[in-house]
Amino acid sequence: MAVNLKGRSFLKLLDFTPREIRYLLDLSRDLKRAKYAGTEQKMMEGKNIVLLFQKDSTRTRCAFEVGALDQGAHVTYLGPSGSQFGKKESVADSARVLGRMYDGIQFRGYKQSDVEELAKHSGVPVFNGLTDQWHPTQILADFLTIEEYKGSLKGLKFVFAGDARNNMGNSLMVGAAKMGMHFVAAAPKELWPDQDLISQCQEIAKETGAVIELSENLQQAATDADVIYTDVWVSMGEAPEVWEQRIKQLKPFQVNAENVKNAKPDFLFMHCLPAFHDLNTEVAQDIYQKFGLTAMEVTDEIFESKHSVVFEEAENRLHTIKAVMVATVGK
Ligand code: CP
Ligand code: NVA
Repeated sequence: MAVNLKGRSFLKLLDFTPREIRYLLDLSRDLKRAKYAGTEQKMMEGKNIVLLFQKDSTRTRCAFEVGALDQGAHVTYLGPSGSQFGKKESVADSARVLGRMYDGIQFRGYKQSDVEELAKHSGVPVFNGLTDQWHPTQILADFLTIEEYKGSLKGLKFVFAGDARNNMGNSLMVGAAKMGMHFVAAAPKELWPDQDLISQCQEIAKETGAVIELSENLQQAATDADVIYTDVWVSMGEAPEVWEQRIKQLKPFQVNAENVKNAKPDFLFMHCLPAFHDLNTEVAQDIYQKFGLTAMEVTDEIFESKHSVVFEEAENRLHTIKAVMVATVGK
């Protein structure tokens, strides 16, 4: 049967079959090629998309805006302040209002239950642009990038180093399980994903041929890796007080030359961004003053090396987010 995602929400990868994820990756590739060739067809003319952000964003917001505009749709941005959402108006009420004016709703915020509730009450497709638990659109961009460099996903050894129970760790593990990859989370045990989610991914892996592993040693985990991925040690919405403990927990899992020396010679370095790889940000300066670190989750050496595909990955947020909108809201 043909894959048809019209009217569907995109809330987490667990809701999608490997075939549906494959379809979105193929559509992303096609839309990227069409944009480059100047042959893009506008599938979203007359559509309106609202972008609801409780947290900051560069890539996700810009990808939704440019993706929608490329496709002929209009967008409204509602930021962390300036709307009634969540303060004077409940999620369910906001959903019923926005669903009457818009053809699709993007939500970035804290609670996964909020994005699920928006989808339940709005009657239009809702896109999860990141919650504390999941970041599903990011995984599409990551996998498209890997395919561009490595040809396929199946069987590739993919190592995630860092806070493996954050939205990126969770989402990458599910994505890898669905697409038949060899996924290893390298993190201290207390930062491993929830045991229920690990078990769920191991069940999925039985059908897809994926391997799901957890390790407390990055150097060992990185041996023969095709992809090394990391993310910030403290995520948006976490209290600043957690920095001290998180640095202690995750310093041994920093992506640096020593820790990845046994990876394949042509390994890819990936990061969803933004990244703390130097001292050129306010937060990095603050951490340097307090803890003396000149880089956090990745050294500048690796970030700027020939292995790094982080900006290709960032560009692919556009093509993949556009694919999600076209597949669900497009004509
Ligand atoms: N990777 C990502 O989601 O980036 P933004 O926070 O800039 O959207
Ligand atoms: N884990 C990070 C991802 C940012 C794209 C965060 O939630 O802040």
